[in-house]
Amino acid sequence: MAGLKAVVFDAYGTLFDVSSIAGACRELFGGDGDRLCARWRAKQLEYTWLRSLMGRYEDFDRVTADALSHSCAALGLELSDANGTALMERYNRLETYPENKAALSALADYRLMILSNGNPSMLEAVVASNGLEDVFERLISVRELGVFKPDPRVYELACSAAGLRANEIAFVSSNYFDIAGAAAFGFRTFWVNRRNEEPDVLGVGAAAVLENLGQLPDVLSAE
Ligand code: LAC
Repeated sequence: MAGLKAVVFDAYGTLFDVSSIAGACRELFGGDGDRLCARWRAKQLEYTWLRSLMGRYEDFDRVTADALSHSCAALGLELSDANGTALMERYNRLETYPENKAALSALADYRLMILSNGNPSMLEAVVASNGLEDVFERLISVRELGVFKPDPRVYELACSAAGLRANEIAFVSSNYFDIAGAAAFGFRTFWVNRRNEEPDVLGVGAAAVLENLGQLPDVLSAE
């Protein structure tokens, strides 16, 4: 891709599989574990949007813990303090998708960064638990802004942190709201649509749609 200097990745759902915590949820809550896992993620994102709109930022680990306790209560599941702590600890060890390590290696000619809602300690932990410390030049967190995606200031932060213009960055996410925010800002966007979802109708879209991250190196070199 002409002029491309960096590839910036979303973290949760794109590099790290938020459903990889479903097994831990099933161990604690049996047949309700999958429902809990799905509701937890949905509430986590909803709380980021609500907190941004309210101007009441809290760190993503707090938002994630709040979403967990709400989701357990809504499903009638008893969450002890110890189990809450264990699930949150497990969140820092989410697994990467199987194709990701090879795909990231194939992108070694680009500057690689993460831009995430996650606060720095969460990002450092999940990157380290997957042995990816040497892959990413920067782990850019929204924390210093105190607002979550898809606020345009978040995408601007990637430019200022990298010292690059928007047209020098390829932005990769599996979360469509994130793709929409990044495209509205002016990034060239690559949507990893692993579950063949319907794109939201928001007036902005992805430059390219991939089935998984393994397709990204070829797609970028063909641009
Ligand atoms: C992130 C969320 C959107 O990593 O998954 O920013």
